[in-house]
Amino acid sequence: MDIKTKLSKPFVEWATKLRDNPLFSTLKFKFLFWNIILSVISIAFILLVFFETTQYILYSQFNSNLLYTANEVSSIVGHSGSTIGTNQVSQFHNKNFIGYFIVILNSNGHVVAESNNIKLNASFISDVFTAVQSKDNSSVFTQKIGNQHLSLISIPILNKFGDLTGVAIVGNSITIIHNTLHTLLIVMFFMALIFIFIVVLFTFYFSDKITDPLSDITSQIVSITGFNLNQRIRTKNYDREFNSMSEEFNKLLDRLEKTFEREKNFINDVAHEIKTPLAIINGETELSLRDKNTNIKSYKKMLEANLYQSRKIEKVLNDVLSLARVEYNTSSYITEKIDLSNLLSNMASDMKIIAETKKINFEYIVKGKGFYVFSNKENLSKAIFNILANSLKYTKDGFVRLSLYKNSKKIFIEIEDTGIGIKTEDVPKIFNRFYRASNVKKIEGSGLGLSISKSIIEGYKGSILVESQASLGTKFTIILPEFK
Ligand SMILES: Nc1ncnc2c1ncn2[C@@H]1O[C@H](COP(=O)(O)OP(=O)(O)OP(=O)(O)O)[C@@H](O)[C@H]1O
Ligand SMILES: [Mg+2]
Repeated sequence: MDIKTKLSKPFVEWATKLRDNPLFSTLKFKFLFWNIILSVISIAFILLVFFETTQYILYSQFNSNLLYTANEVSSIVGHSGSTIGTNQVSQFHNKNFIGYFIVILNSNGHVVAESNNIKLNASFISDVFTAVQSKDNSSVFTQKIGNQHLSLISIPILNKFGDLTGVAIVGNSITIIHNTLHTLLIVMFFMALIFIFIVVLFTFYFSDKITDPLSDITSQIVSITGFNLNQRIRTKNYDREFNSMSEEFNKLLDRLEKTFEREKNFINDVAHEIKTPLAIINGETELSLRDKNTNIKSYKKMLEANLYQSRKIEKVLNDVLSLARVEYNTSSYITEKIDLSNLLSNMASDMKIIAETKKINFEYIVKGKGFYVFSNKENLSKAIFNILANSLKYTKDGFVRLSLYKNSKKIFIEIEDTGIGIKTEDVPKIFNRFYRASNVKKIEGSGLGLSISKSIIEGYKGSILVESQASLGTKFTIILPEFK
């Protein structure tokens, strides 16, 4: 194991532990952490830019003044000839350049004059001289002499022919600027600390404001179970986001409650549908057993009646199972491309036989070709069959017509009959589970056929329309998306 891996392994372990700590995975912590990081970065950046700009402005202002003075010194000394006298320098110092440090070097780099308020180091002077000679231009230096911070500018002195006759070094104290900047730095540091402290306080306050409603809503959600589904989340004076989240959750509870209620009713209905025939079977059997004079003929009659009732139970159970399979298991059905004209023509031949026994006309009409849908064959057949079976069941005379046609995107299967029809007020209810309209009277059925059909057709993104007139007839239209 190399040293890098050796070092990085404990760090990775530490970082993973930190990440997995429940505290660090909270919204509150993340909010606090990133807010502090961002505030530190932004305040550091702002203060740094401010400090650098101030420093630049102060120094450049100072140095441009220095350069101006140095140029003045250089031009005066340059024009005065090759020999530069001490008197001249002290004159500048006394009259025009109070506070400035002035050192004049001759063309050999020797000090010929210097103001008496400064004593520059000899090696520094020689460095400055070499720099001016090689660059033939002005240069800026900073020096610390004793407690004094100096900014110095060196400038070549030229005679009227442009020859280098010496070098002027002009300087001034930058201690004030230096101290000002130093104080500014300290003030900025404390300002940054105060700012970060305020940010932390605000972040704590706001993170509580964000997480408090969440904890409240969570504790309310926890208290809702299958037994108190009518309970709803109480929204207080939360922010809009939390209110709308709670409202949406309440709407979800509404839907769940309705579904639960529907399931409960469904179970009651199933129980009721089975209870009646079972009671009849039990009653008939007990009666026959109690009657000592029962003969074979009466036993046979009783058995026939019981068989009829148990078939009724079998039908209800089969329908309930079909419905459960369709509603809760759609994804496990194999779907395929189905040619509807083939499927319907097979069904039509079966229906024709039933229709003939009832002396009803059965017609099958196809308008166009290429009727492909994507569906499960068994389910789709069941859905169409239930509607066709109804038409035959509820029609005494006249006809039942099955038509197939399409438009650019959809396929229509129309099943029209001249049967007993449905009262307008009953039409919206006929797809409800176990619903049987007042028109059917003694005609047998469990009231589940249409709800099975509806579930199947809607499962394949289709829909069913009904038009009916009592005593005149009914038209069901199944609409399915075409598969291309
Ligand atoms: N073609 C039709 N003509 C008249 N009434 C109809 C027709 N189709 C359906 N209905 C009405 O709608 C009700 C519901 O039909 P659905 O097929 O769900 O149940 P059902 O036919 O009574 O029983 P089953 O479960 O055996 O099919 C029927 O009881 C009947 O009142
Ligand atoms: Mg039916």
